[in-house]
Amino acid sequence: ENDHIPVICIDGPTASGKGTLAALAAHRLGYHYLDSGALYRLSAFAAAQAGISLDDGDGVAGIARTLPVRFKGEKVFLDGKDVSDAIRTEAAGMAASKVSAHPQVRTALLELQHGFRCLPGLVADGRDMGTVVFPGAQLKIYLTASAEHRAERRYKQLISKGNSATLASIQQDLEARDARDMSRKAAPLKPADDAKLLDNSYLSIENSVDQVIEWWQGSRPF
Ligand code: DC
Repeated sequence: ENDHIPVICIDGPTASGKGTLAALAAHRLGYHYLDSGALYRLSAFAAAQAGISLDDGDGVAGIARTLPVRFKGEKVFLDGKDVSDAIRTEAAGMAASKVSAHPQVRTALLELQHGFRCLPGLVADGRDMGTVVFPGAQLKIYLTASAEHRAERRYKQLISKGNSATLASIQQDLEARDARDMSRKAAPLKPADDAKLLDNSYLSIENSVDQVIEWWQGSRPF
């Protein structure tokens, strides 16, 4: 019933820069922002804390259904505790990818995600924003970059935070995660039929944001 509230969906593979792009576009438009990947990360994290196996779809779904999450700026709180860093590790991403393959977990998170669609509008990033969660969205973007570019960005990010990593192992990890996210039965990662493709391998983040805003203005009748 809130179909009239504008939504821009940005879907794409791991480390394509969706999060940064979506957050900046939301900021420019004065819209709300949904980081749907964080919800899968939080579900895996909370399940592990509760001693629930990541293979237990019903168990993780039970946790996901009543996830005590609060977003505040760049920070994420679970049950009042700041877990922003804890859910951002490579291991947490892999755990999120695992629990996200359970259809029960995806269903459990649907309502929570729909709740982010508030006036004046929403920019949502993830894997299935345009295909499943907001199929009627006014603008859908599928963001990609070559695996080499994505691995290099992730590598620089990790190193700048003082982590040790090798470029080869990062590229291997992200290709493994993409393969799982694309081949699962429930809401696999793929472009929506009506998505605009944006390859940012050779685009600056500012140019990418400009492109999104230009498409957004072009898609509106005023
Ligand atoms: O975007 P991210 O790296 O934070 O997402 C972590 C994992 O969560 C990703 O590998 C797959 C899953 N995910 C999903 O299945 N659907 C979404 N809309 C967002 C993330």
